[in-house]
Amino acid sequence: MRTTESNPDISEGTTRVFFAIWPDDAARKQLAGLAEQLRGEALCVGRKTKAENIHLTLVFVGEVGASKLETLCLAADRIKDSGVSAFDFAVEEIRYWKRNRILYAATGGIPPKLIDLVSALENALSTAGFTLEQRAYKPHITLMRDASCQTLPELAEPIAWQVREWMLVKSEQTSSGPVYTPIRRWPLA
Ligand code: 2AM
Repeated sequence: MRTTESNPDISEGTTRVFFAIWPDDAARKQLAGLAEQLRGEALCVGRKTKAENIHLTLVFVGEVGASKLETLCLAADRIKDSGVSAFDFAVEEIRYWKRNRILYAATGGIPPKLIDLVSALENALSTAGFTLEQRAYKPHITLMRDASCQTLPELAEPIAWQVREWMLVKSEQTSSGPVYTPIRRWPLA
């Protein structure tokens, strides 16, 4: 993540951004329903992610100055040359990350095209001069925060959707929780 100390754009005001994919309507409803069900059955208590906010982060960028946003988009434009096409993403497991108190949805096997897309993005952003977190990529869809969970049930069947686009998203903290606003979208062929 870029820090305020290393970011010369901080004086012009910054926007907190990340690249992500959003599930389609059906998958979003299923994922939101799942969290609701776990809460209803008292298997999990916590702050449920609003349905419209359910997403899979590709790359978290952090605070970026206005002039760097265009650089970020130009860097992302180069991804289309990396040949990544649309792919299926299937949520196969619901897991609880006790240390971070997060209930999240995960896939059993990470689609190679997802790895290709994340790697291409990371490389393009590094080349453009953005400093990213060095943490290994662990694809997860946060369903509940400040969660306390008991034994979680297995999914009867995967919750899947076809990933046809990825986007750059603005993240704002408000009194009613985070608000995510797409800044730009890139289609996958
Ligand atoms: P999380 O759901 O596990 O918090 C917007 O904040 C998105 O970027 C979330 O999906 C969040 O993951 C992810 N993210 C990754 N690294 C982050 C960081 N250092 N700070 C905030 N969010 C981060």
